[in-house]
Amino acid sequence: MNKKILIVDDEDGIRYSLRGILEDDGFEVSEAESGEKALSHLGEERPDLVFLDIWLPGMDGLEVLDRIKKEWDWLPVVMISGHGNIETAVSAIKKGAFDFIEKPLSLEKVVITAEKAVEFSRLQSENKALRTRIANEQPAKLTGKSDSIDSMREVIGQVAPTDAWVLITGENGTGKEIVARSIHSLSQRSDKPLVAVNCAAIPEELIESELFGHEKGAFTGAEKAQEGKFELADNGTLFLDEIGDMSLKTQAKILRILQEQRFERVGGRKTINVDVRVIAATNKDLFQEIKNGNFREDLYYRLKVFPLEVPPLRERSEDVPQLIAEFITRLNRQHGFKPLTFTDPALKVLTHYSWPGNVRELKNFVERMLIMFGGKEVGPEKLPPEIANGPRIERPETDHGQALSLPEGEVDFKKARADFEAQFLEAKLREYKGNVSKLAEAVGLERSSLYRKLKAYEIQVD
Ligand SMILES: Nc1ncnc2c1ncn2[C@@H]1O[C@H](COP(=O)(O)OP(=O)(O)OP(=O)(O)O)[C@@H](O)[C@H]1O
Ligand SMILES: [Mg+2]
Repeated sequence: MNKKILIVDDEDGIRYSLRGILEDDGFEVSEAESGEKALSHLGEERPDLVFLDIWLPGMDGLEVLDRIKKEWDWLPVVMISGHGNIETAVSAIKKGAFDFIEKPLSLEKVVITAEKAVEFSRLQSENKALRTRIANEQPAKLTGKSDSIDSMREVIGQVAPTDAWVLITGENGTGKEIVARSIHSLSQRSDKPLVAVNCAAIPEELIESELFGHEKGAFTGAEKAQEGKFELADNGTLFLDEIGDMSLKTQAKILRILQEQRFERVGGRKTINVDVRVIAATNKDLFQEIKNGNFREDLYYRLKVFPLEVPPLRERSEDVPQLIAEFITRLNRQHGFKPLTFTDPALKVLTHYSWPGNVRELKNFVERMLIMFGGKEVGPEKLPPEIANGPRIERPETDHGQALSLPEGEVDFKKARADFEAQFLEAKLREYKGNVSKLAEAVGLERSSLYRKLKAYEIQVD
């Protein structure tokens, strides 16, 4: 489809020659000889670009530009400036004009500028669409198909629409924040903000003002009044991240406010009422922290209306391949890396690795591999040593009922044989539905000796 352009100039000659040049270049051209006419034209029809004279009778070009930027801020405007009128042209650029061309008009400059402007606005709207899509997609998407992720999704779906407070626990990098965001995005508050506060990152002396805001002059440096996170989260969700790192003093203060949903700004007297839903997260064992005297028991029970535990990645290793694929796709889209594939043996090493840093470690790993090996295939030999020789899971869930795993790094023959026997008998027993007599016959052992082995390896027989 042809791009549309509106030419606004009171001089017939200029309109005529611009029309000629631009039509030859494939634009569909309309004209207006005054600012007023241009605005009413824009009210009815939307061009892709406007060429706008600075000197116009009646409403002048800069004023028209202001109006356009107010109502149709995405519409690129190229100013037409009289000779020796550069200063005005520059101030038009400051007001948001895309560029300017000078009279007398150079044919080449007109065409180049028009094409650049149209391309710019296309990129801008594409960018905007992408950003909205990312903002909408990112938070709610939990990748993984393990039972634990499935049941987490189910629980999230149940708790999200209620207004219940949620306490999310889990090791570093397991996805606590992404869980908090998906609860918010599935809640009735989703069109209101989710305001996150990282309790560990804010120095003690600033935390009150950060949470509750302050009035002008409340303390040295408080030059103007400032809203706190509680006010910003009104009608939305307040995400108290790393709550285990909050000092006892702040805990006491916050407990009262969380219950009453009422507070005053630092240095202020007016009581402010809010309606916030609280989601808290921590990687600490709060129960232990209570025993050690670092966390208030009453606050703990207030927060923990609905506890949600995000399991470590090593307990859902079957999610590893899907997470890797997801991060490759996402990072490619964001940074334009070349695609990367891991060979099956490499994937196996990655699935057996215990990922002490959980999903965050996995994500950083994928990014590093994309930078180093984008466009290539990665086998186990290319994996970094800390992962290839790092801590491993004995038997990932993916292995159940499939291949038996070789005990990693084991050199003692007797121990290795015992490991193998245990795995073998356990798998076979399952295959024979717990029937020891049949199993004994099948594997060629005396029934009593098979029993002894099962007992020694602590394999349950029902
Ligand atoms: N199931 C998942 N699907 C997709 N991405 C995930 C998943 N879990 C975690 N991530 C990603 O991994 C990274 C770490 O997750 P997040 O920040 O939510 O973890 P966290 O538990 O809050 O970590 P920390 O304890 O260090 O604050 C983020 O980039 C997040 O988007
Ligand atoms: Mg976090």
